[in-house]
Amino acid sequence: MSYLRPNIAKMRAYVPGEQPKVASLIKLNTNENPYPPSHKVAAGLYAAIGDGHPLRLYPDPVCSGLRAKLAEIHGFLPEQIIVGNGSDELLTLALRAFVGEGQRVAYAMPSYSLYPVLCDIQGARKVELEMNPDFTLPAQLFRERAALKFVTSPNAPSGVAVPTAALDRLCAASDGVVLIDEAYIDFADDNALRLVDKHRNALVVRTMSKSFSLAGLRVGFAFGHRALIAGLMKVKDSYNVNRLSEAAALAVLNDADYFRACIACVKATRDRLRAALIALGFSVFPSAANFLCARPPGRLTAKKLYETLRARKILVRWWNDPRVRSHVRISIGTDDETDKLLAAIREILAEAT
Ligand SMILES: Cc1ncc(COP(=O)(O)O)c(C=O)c1O
Repeated sequence: MSYLRPNIAKMRAYVPGEQPKVASLIKLNTNENPYPPSHKVAAGLYAAIGDGHPLRLYPDPVCSGLRAKLAEIHGFLPEQIIVGNGSDELLTLALRAFVGEGQRVAYAMPSYSLYPVLCDIQGARKVELEMNPDFTLPAQLFRERAALKFVTSPNAPSGVAVPTAALDRLCAASDGVVLIDEAYIDFADDNALRLVDKHRNALVVRTMSKSFSLAGLRVGFAFGHRALIAGLMKVKDSYNVNRLSEAAALAVLNDADYFRACIACVKATRDRLRAALIALGFSVFPSAANFLCARPPGRLTAKKLYETLRARKILVRWWNDPRVRSHVRISIGTDDETDKLLAAIREILAEAT
């Protein structure tokens, strides 16, 4: 006999990318930023700790300071913004607020593998479509009736961005909420924020884990119509974002120059790595994110490449899933890490032929 709800008993848990504690590992498997956050973070954290007394007190339940800052930067009202304990929490809240048990949630795969897991937890009905081979959205996604649709743009694991015009049409064609997961958008050239004031059902979700280098502090935020945001606010934990995370988030937002410089570095390295891999015979999706999805040439399989790199202390991501098994996903590292990665790949290719 199980004490679990039947859907929890039979579901599969999400498997996060590995976080090994191996010295001198080149870690290119979970799309973290290779550069540290702005040095202003340390000062912000010390100020938030003060003489220790602030830590006795609960944090601001609605993150007023951070919402006001995000509102100012992006031209919204604070009531159009919610902050979460990472964007993963905001995805959970969306299921909780918008999807009743048995209601439909539609998305195209391959995409972020957390979506089906969250549907299973909620007891929602998954409508899982196939992404077009070039990672454009399948026509069926526009036709589906669903309480919630997920779209990742740029897509993970391919890195391919969904044109904002397509997202605009998707919002117009959908009767439920369209959640646009923009975890990697700061590495792209366009974004979907302009859809928020146009469509009452558009919810744009972002994270500070990638472009802002704050994965360890867990901060995500979302923009939407005030009615959507009010619903999400109702179902969140009272104190979902801790004091130190809010202080660090404000500090990185106050150092826009450093942020822009980091993004420029990552994009330049991404474009250099893509060109080098293509020159070596790889096929690589055009990426608007901080990672590349690449298929090795000739007889070298993606699995073998992943394993051989791993033995050389370079960790990339590979999924034993028929839809993406032929590719590895490589997070963009520093220039030095990228040089070491390329040198290792050249050797592996030479051994494979
Ligand atoms: C597409 C996508 N959405 C959301 C997240 C979660 O980010 P966070 O660290 O803010 O929870 C990730 C993390 O890898 C992701 O790839």
